[in-house]
Amino acid sequence: MELKVDLSRADKLKEKYVNDALESLEKLINKNGKGSEFTGWVELPKNINEDNIVRIEKLAAKMRKNADVLVVIGIGGSYLGARAVIEALKKTYKKENFEVIFAGCDLSPQRLVELIEYLQDKDFYVNVISKSGTTLEPALTFRAVRKLLETKYNKDELRERIIVTTDREKGALKTLADNMGLEKFVVPSDIGGRYSVLTDVGLIPIAAAGLNIRELLSGALTASKEYTVLFKENNALRYAALRQQYREAGKDIEIFASYEPKLNYIKEWLKQLFGESEGKDGLGIFPASATFTTDLHSIGQLIQDGKRNIFETIIYIEEEKFDMAIPYDEENLDNLNYLQGKNFSYVQNKAKEGVIQAHVDGLCPNIVINLPSLDEYNLGKLIYFFMISCAISAYIEGVNPFDQPGVEAYKKNMFKLLGRD
Ligand code: PA5
Repeated sequence: MELKVDLSRADKLKEKYVNDALESLEKLINKNGKGSEFTGWVELPKNINEDNIVRIEKLAAKMRKNADVLVVIGIGGSYLGARAVIEALKKTYKKENFEVIFAGCDLSPQRLVELIEYLQDKDFYVNVISKSGTTLEPALTFRAVRKLLETKYNKDELRERIIVTTDREKGALKTLADNMGLEKFVVPSDIGGRYSVLTDVGLIPIAAAGLNIRELLSGALTASKEYTVLFKENNALRYAALRQQYREAGKDIEIFASYEPKLNYIKEWLKQLFGESEGKDGLGIFPASATFTTDLHSIGQLIQDGKRNIFETIIYIEEEKFDMAIPYDEENLDNLNYLQGKNFSYVQNKAKEGVIQAHVDGLCPNIVINLPSLDEYNLGKLIYFFMISCAISAYIEGVNPFDQPGVEAYKKNMFKLLGRD
């Protein structure tokens, strides 16, 4: 089954935007657009190094056997992709023998103290991920976690337990890894953080969580063949074109919505991907997220009835892995016996159709991306689909999808206030 991009509930796509999108995809493939030195992710699924996959799988198996926890330290593109895949595929309530937890993505002292407390009596590994090696949040968190490691393990064990993912050539983390003789993995120099989930950055935590990284990459490979074809029916290209058509028509808020809470971190990843790639030079589409039906009882009001500057992109899972029939109730006080015997997925699907109709009638157009099922293969496809659509869309907009000059502004102030030279 394939990933289906349903544009039937959206506006008619204008030829001009399709042509622009085609031109943008061409630039991306031929590597002659803005920031083309960071487009290594486009062909990455075709160039996977088998030895490296085996190395990651072995490391994951070793960690799962020898420890209780892997602490992944990173922020932005150095953590969101892995977290998105893991949260989407792990069982929500099951207590695992081995867990992957994320840290270093904020400056909360409370969280850090709780983390250190939690790790005191755990056997754990650390995967510290930073392309630059100098990002404040992960660097500070790593300091604190390293201190704990040093109190728990001897030098040889310490060397075993810290895994560094950073630039191949340079940076503070690379120097530290060299000095301590740590195991090193690489953030490729031609791939920026938010496009790096299918590299060592994402693959190590995902494999450590017990998930199948080969399937993930296989899905991405299928998508890379499908979505890099230069023809007007290419769905990645059409989605990108439609987004820009909406932006120019004044609809500059896109709500990524799903009916599955497990996709909440996929939406966080999407917010970073699109926000950091497109939001520059006074342009961009504000990426928001919603979980339905939960948020229909909160921001649903605004989506239906507020300022008409929104369009929605729904990620819908077509075939649920688990389902449940609605039980019969003798008393029927809730008057729900008319649904007895029907599956929960049936109700969810009807809710989705009802919502789409209402929102479209309320002038909030809907794009629906149907994911055949929630598994590694289809997530690999989805991730690649969104990355390529995002880059095409940014090129249509006329900006460089691979830089983030805006994030430096707060850092400058913060470091000045902190007293850095
Ligand atoms: O997409 C990006 O490039 C950023 O979000 C980075 O991933 C984020 O700032 C973390 O950077 P680094 O990996 O250098 O610590």
